[in-house]
Amino acid sequence: MSNIVKPYNDTDSKKKQVEEMFDNISENYDFLNRLLSFKIDIYWRNQLEKKVIAFKPERILDVATGTADLAIEHAKKTQAKVTGLDLSQKMLDYGQVKVNKSGFKDRIKLIKGDAENLPFHEGEFDMVTASFGVRNFENLEKGISEMSRVLRDGGKLLILEFSKPSGFFAPFFMFYFKNILPGIGKLISGDSKAYTYLPNSVDTMPYGDKMTRLILKNGFKEAKFKKYTFGVATIYEGIK
Ligand SMILES: C[S@@+](CC[C@H](N)C(=O)[O-])C[C@H]1O[C@@H](n2cnc3c(N)ncnc32)[C@H](O)[C@@H]1O
Repeated sequence: MSNIVKPYNDTDSKKKQVEEMFDNISENYDFLNRLLSFKIDIYWRNQLEKKVIAFKPERILDVATGTADLAIEHAKKTQAKVTGLDLSQKMLDYGQVKVNKSGFKDRIKLIKGDAENLPFHEGEFDMVTASFGVRNFENLEKGISEMSRVLRDGGKLLILEFSKPSGFFAPFFMFYFKNILPGIGKLISGDSKAYTYLPNSVDTMPYGDKMTRLILKNGFKEAKFKKYTFGVATIYEGIK
């Protein structure tokens, strides 16, 4: 599995560089998300949220929660206690401001931590979610098996991640993704590498059947996926 694309250089660990990169872009992260995806990310997140609501979880872990969009949505749409975990303290700081304003402060806890070494006991959660996070893991399989470990038997994993589109739309999207998006990202975030790392990391990321097989190999007894927007994004579902 080739998951070794790093944001800045070949020498430091991917984890260290990913943490630094999200600290750097945290201030503009939400704005750029909406702008660069033409707000389609909100549609993808809503599709994931429907699956969350249908499962009626009581305890949810949102891994790689970033600025806590998904964690807040989980609290809004369910009665669950939600924990959001992320490597980047600055992403969490922006997330905490949003949590405080959301009215769900009592049900959402944000903590700094590593998805590949989760600070939780076996079976603590009914559901684990991750949106646009797993692509950034240093060791994807370790991350998936950790998400399985902290889920109860029968618990559900939901992963929303970029994938590679197919069909007539693919060349247009790939042109935008590789040639236009990095320039806008650089201009607004001030980080010259972060939005080049984005398409590069998607290039090497397993998706579709390959990703489903990794989920099955690392602690889940069922796994499936559904593509959205011609395959630009995919939601994976796993049952422990
Ligand atoms: C593209 S952002 C996604 C944030 C949020 N989930 C969203 O949908 O907007 C990726 C996040 O993953 C976090 N991340 C990357 N590797 C991680 C790891 N090993 N453990 C925890 N968080 C990690 C980054 O710090 C960053 O906040």
